[in-house]
Amino acid sequence: MLDFQSFLQDYAQKHQVPEALNSVLFSLMDACAQIHHQVRQGALAGVLGDAGTGNVQGEQQKKLDVIANQILVDSLKANQSVAGLASEEEEEFILVNNQGNYLVLFDPLDGSSNIDVNISVGTIFSILAHQAGDNVCTESFLQNGQKQVASGYCLYGPQTQWVFTFGEGVFVFTLDQNTNTFLLTKDNVIVPTQTKEFAINMSNQRHWQKPVQTYIAELLAGEEGVRNKNYNMRWVASMVAEVHRILMRGGIFMYPRDNREPEKAGKLRLMYEANPMSLLIQAAGAKATDGQNDILSIKPEGLHQRVAVFLGSSQEVDYVTDLHKKS
Ligand code: AHG
Ligand code: MN
Ligand code: MN
Repeated sequence: MLDFQSFLQDYAQKHQVPEALNSVLFSLMDACAQIHHQVRQGALAGVLGDAGTGNVQGEQQKKLDVIANQILVDSLKANQSVAGLASEEEEEFILVNNQGNYLVLFDPLDGSSNIDVNISVGTIFSILAHQAGDNVCTESFLQNGQKQVASGYCLYGPQTQWVFTFGEGVFVFTLDQNTNTFLLTKDNVIVPTQTKEFAINMSNQRHWQKPVQTYIAELLAGEEGVRNKNYNMRWVASMVAEVHRILMRGGIFMYPRDNREPEKAGKLRLMYEANPMSLLIQAAGAKATDGQNDILSIKPEGLHQRVAVFLGSSQEVDYVTDLHKKS
């Protein structure tokens, strides 16, 4: 099996990927391998439980949120090709080096409410280009998702897997723990256009807006309803795990905006979660919208901006997006 280094050498030659971008991917992969070791050790390394601090979003931080963030910051700061960093766990961006060519945004530990109960978590990353020499400022990061030069995630599940795209093609590597190397295990990821599986946090049903109420009611009606088929439901509460499932066997994942805090456009973050996952999903032939527009076309207004998310098998995403447009 091809290791990541050999894969990148081949791929970079064929597709003219700059060496600097490869080096950023290596720094990210190295950080994820370190996070993997912390996650695997869990209670043995004393890394579970609350950190006792809050992040910029007002969420309680887990110890591993803080540890994973620090590992990523240290690894990326050591790379001269990185101009700046933005993290879900940091209020402001971090300047690394104005001469760098890339900006890296990340959710260090996604699904961290699951970490203390030994359910899959992940790291999500997004890479944007930076004009070397330009001053890095917040606006430098506020680029549409279409402009991402690469994105991906590392899933710390029964296997640790590194999944990424340069915008075309989705590549899956599995960590061989005996050699501490990531080996290519899948490279033709295509999400089926149709599905019978959906993911949404049903406990928020009473807060949903009309189009989502209608859509989920139709899915729950099964064969007796207008959709004429029975659906199955999954909710892991780790977006990385949900997106991985959808990339492997199809499905639709939703985190809609709702009536609890109407001024907030959903729970998930555009820059650290929705954009990187949408690039992957699109590269696998599936779709991602906020109910109205393609997520990748949204002009970001802030680093920590929230967005509603409907992503996965294209037929279902089109269906629920049409319901929004008609309402
Ligand atoms: P994070 O742990 O980075 O804050 O993200 C958690 C996100 C996402 O992974 C998941 O889909 C969703 O929050 C779960 O939300 P609920 O707690 O509402 O189920
Ligand atoms: Mn997250
Ligand atoms: Mn997180």
